[in-house]
Parts: sequence; C-alpha cells; structure tokens
Amino acid sequence: MILFPQGRPTHRETFGEYCAAGGYQAVTKNILDEIIASGLTGRGGAGFPVGRKWSVAAETDADARYIICNAGEDEPGSFKDRVLLEYRPHLVLEGIILAARAIAAERAYVYLNETYDECFSRMTTAIDDAKAAGYLRGITVTVHPAPTVYVAGEDSAAIEVLEGKPPKPRQKPPYPAAAGLFGKPTVVNNVETLANVPPIVRNGATWFRRFGTPEYPGTMIFCLGEEMRDPGAYELPFGTTLRQLYENVGGGLKDHQQLKAILPGGPSCAFLTADQLDISLDPESLNQAGSSLGCGVMRFYPEGTCMVDETLRIAQFFARESCGQCPACRMETEMLSTILERIRQGKGDAALFNQFQKIIDFNRGKGYCALINMPGPPIMSALRLFGEEFEFHLQHGGHGSCE
Ligand SMILES: Cc1cc2nc3c(=O)[nH]c(=O)nc-3n(C[C@H](O)[C@H](O)[C@H](O)COP(=O)(O)O)c2cc1C
Repeated sequence: MILFPQGRPTHRETFGEYCAAGGYQAVTKNILDEIIASGLTGRGGAGFPVGRKWSVAAETDADARYIICNAGEDEPGSFKDRVLLEYRPHLVLEGIILAARAIAAERAYVYLNETYDECFSRMTTAIDDAKAAGYLRGITVTVHPAPTVYVAGEDSAAIEVLEGKPPKPRQKPPYPAAAGLFGKPTVVNNVETLANVPPIVRNGATWFRRFGTPEYPGTMIFCLGEEMRDPGAYELPFGTTLRQLYENVGGGLKDHQQLKAILPGGPSCAFLTADQLDISLDPESLNQAGSSLGCGVMRFYPEGTCMVDETLRIAQFFARESCGQCPACRMETEMLSTILERIRQGKGDAALFNQFQKIIDFNRGKGYCALINMPGPPIMSALRLFGEEFEFHLQHGGHGSCE
C-alpha cells in the first residue's frame, strides 16, 4: 500500500530505514505538476484537490509563503494522523518539504494536537535527523501545539493559533491559500494528505492512479473503533466496499452482535443502515447514498443502540464545540440539541419534528466555518431511518425501550 507497507501500521520507521527505502530522494522532479496529475485530494475531510490549492499559493504574488501540516486531530474517533506521525514521521516530513518546495515556502509548521506527546518526540527527532543530513536546506520546520478543541482543526482557526490568538475561524474569502498566516499564501494540508506526496513524486502520478478509482485515485486510512473485533487504522484503496472494511478487515462487531447503523465519516455525516454495506468507499458513492466519507472515521452501531440517544450525543457535541463567535452557529447547535433532548424526555408534541429542517435551512452557510453545516446530516438521517424510535421517546419519554 502507499502509506503503510502492509496496509496497517506495524513498525516505527527510523531515519536510516526511511532513507534506505529511497526516502528524501524525490526532491528534484517537478513536484506541482506531478501532484496535479495524480488527482490527490485532501484527506482532512473536505476532499479538496491538492494541486489546485498549491497552485493558488504558488501563483499568488508574495514575499513569503507557508505550509501548515494539520495534525489538530480532534474529530471523535480519529487517530490516523497520530498513527502516521508515530510510525512514519519521515514520510510526513518529506511531504512537508516537497510541499514547501512546490510553492516556494521557507517556513512550515506541524500543527500538532497538544496531547500527542509521542508524536511530538518522533517528529522533533525526525526534523533533527533530516536537518543534520541536509534535507531541510532553505526550509524551517517547527512543531506548534494545537489546542484540543474541535474547531481548532479548522484551517483558518489553526492559522489564528499560529499567530498567537484563540482558535476562532476566519471569514472566507480570502482562503488561506491566497491570504493565510500573517496574510501570506498558506497551504494547510492534513497529515495523511502530505504523507501521500513523497510516494507520488517518487513513483509518478501514473503509478499512484493504479490505486483507487479513476475519479478518486489512491487510498484512505480508515479508523475502526473499539466496538469492532479488530479495531485499528487501516489503509485501503478508494473503491473498497464498506462490507470488506466491516467484515474482512474489522472482523464485524464484537460478540457477533448484529449491525444496526453505520456512520461512515465521523459525526457530521448521515447514518446508513446495515443493508447498505455494498456501497463503495469513495466520496462520490457515499454522497449518492446521502452521506459522506469525512476523514475516514467509521462507526458501526449494534442492534440495541438507541438512535435517539446517539443522535442527541452528536448534537450535544456540536453545541459544545461551537466556538460561539457566529451567533447563527451558536443558536442552531443549541436549538437542535435542546429539541432532541425534549423529544428524548417526552416533553413536547409532534410539531417538534418540523423544527429541525427549518432551523438547519435557515442557518446553512451563515457561519465563518463549516461547523454550522455539520449537525444536520446525522439528525435528518436518523429521523428518516429510525423515526419510530423518536416517536416512541416523544410518547413515553425515557421509559421503556424504543427498540
Ligand atoms: C470544525 C472543523 C474542524 C476541523 N478539524 C480538522 C482537523 O483536525 N484536521 C484536519 O486535517 N482538518 C480539519 N478540518 C478541515 C480543515 O479546515 C481543512 O479543510 C484541512 O486541514 C485541509 O487539509 P486537506 O485539504 O489536506 O484535507 C476541520 C474543519 C472544520 C470545519
């Protein structure tokens, strides 16, 4: 596979091992052209084409440019960035170096979740080793702590933090690629995105396109949680079916529990049901099924899960994590979780069900960042797929079973 030789992290690679396998030798080719031709898209959630973002930064007239490797990783259930930094720090670092050379940046930051102590030590050692060997010529790479709040991973909030301010997203445009850190062109890419860059530059775009689907070349790391028999981070090509991931890779749910629901892309995506396991794992197929792939956090729910409780938990997460600077976002996230709480406790009538879509439609796009659009898909899909559970709760409150 592209990022993990055996499709999963098995060995904490050293500088010597990375170099012996051809590492740090990819610097002379035309990096930007190769990345554009590869069709690489961002792995941090939004799936934006990497070549296009880099082109904007490279073509914007400026006396300084920056790279930010986004390792904020506060999405519940996500640990792929941590695993990449722990097991393959040089792969990520070479990706940062190549990105910096592609856009002529002289400074790069690893914006690292402040609780990731092991990653900090692996990455600082990697930087020291690469520097001593002369691979960082003309580029300064530093590790900077990222606060552990969800919104701190949003690209413009990360830029605010690097400027010494609280993690609050900026209004866009301008987008960071044109005017980011200190107002200069700044490429913010996820750890996994940057880890794909050295293999592409070394082996070529045609080689990379052998993995995945024609529209979505390459692989993605999927995080399976503790509800599975074999939890872990697994690298699979786009186009693998959800069933392969669930049954063959994850081994199904623990204790042979029956599958009830799937959240295929983290808390901001729409639920799927057990009969949708044959969907292909690529952004377009998930979109057609009304959901999304996000940054690859897969959650599988067993029979017996109360979907009202689960939906409420997600809504409360967004209400808690809204940074509060956009009134529409604060109002929306609080109202959605309050209404869900009332339904769960059986306080109110069926008119409450009509409120969700109205609140979501009214607020769509009215925040500085995408968090305002995140609570809607899980709520609306849960109401559509598991409506009888919500009705049961409305009638009986928390008493009895909604199963
Ligand atoms: C609320 C919120 C939190 C985010 N958290 C992260 C994060 O922890 N890591 C990340 O890479 N991207 C995160 N993103 C996405 C970033 O804004 C940005 O799209 C991404 O870092 C770009 O990298 P990519 O193009 O390589 O995916 C978040 C977005 C939002 C709206």
